[in-house]
Amino acid sequence: MFFHVLTLFPDMIRDGFTTSILGRAAEKRILSLEAVNIRDYTKSRHKKVDDYPYGGGAGMLMQAQPVYDACQAVIEGIQTRKKTAVEEKVRVIYLTPTGQVFSQQLARELAREEDLIFLCGHYEGIDERVLEEIVTDYVSAGDYVLTGGELPAMMIVDAVSRLIPGVLHNDVSAEFESFQDNLLEYPQYSRPEIWHDRQVPPILLSGHHANVEKWRREQSVIRTAKWRPDLLEDAELTMKERELAEEII
Ligand code: ADE
Repeated sequence: MFFHVLTLFPDMIRDGFTTSILGRAAEKRILSLEAVNIRDYTKSRHKKVDDYPYGGGAGMLMQAQPVYDACQAVIEGIQTRKKTAVEEKVRVIYLTPTGQVFSQQLARELAREEDLIFLCGHYEGIDERVLEEIVTDYVSAGDYVLTGGELPAMMIVDAVSRLIPGVLHNDVSAEFESFQDNLLEYPQYSRPEIWHDRQVPPILLSGHHANVEKWRREQSVIRTAKWRPDLLEDAELTMKERELAEEII
């Protein structure tokens, strides 16, 4: 998987990628992350990338030209690597609070792509005309406003990366975790058996695999009903599980 991030702050992206699981996957060449400095593409003598909005208003806007040229350079790079013109349009994801809120479902969908281009805005946003020409997806990290798109871009890179085969250590499916079946993950415990007078639930020490699985599933239903009842709408529950959830809601 090749990630390309168009940004005014490439160090923010690079720093986030050199450590931990993603760093190792990059070393193994399972993932590649390119941070492209939009400022390198400005035709302005003073390396300017922003200007006042027509019609007035607070703040500055990122201008169309450097954003467009940076994106074109990335697409040309992809074509050179693939040694062909890119037939299907490469997805260009603009991070914005006005976009569709990111989800595990979108992470799964994006994980099927070979290349993803992220466009990070700053200041008050980006000239609408270039967005109309290059952006395929408008994606938000959630209903709050950040200073730029870099953190949301890294969040998506992280969520997508862990779905790519070989990135996680254990080869158990990365999907077998939180959000399996639209349910939250069950609680987990490690040694010691008693800590601060708190016992590990005895069933987990029983060695009875089927009962452990049953308990975990119940805990997932209970937690989801308590904390994220909205998720239950799309969860596939047995009659008994639905009753259990309804007792809690
Ligand atoms: N840029 C600023 N705020 C954002 C958000 N919530 N999601 C994505 N990009 C953003």
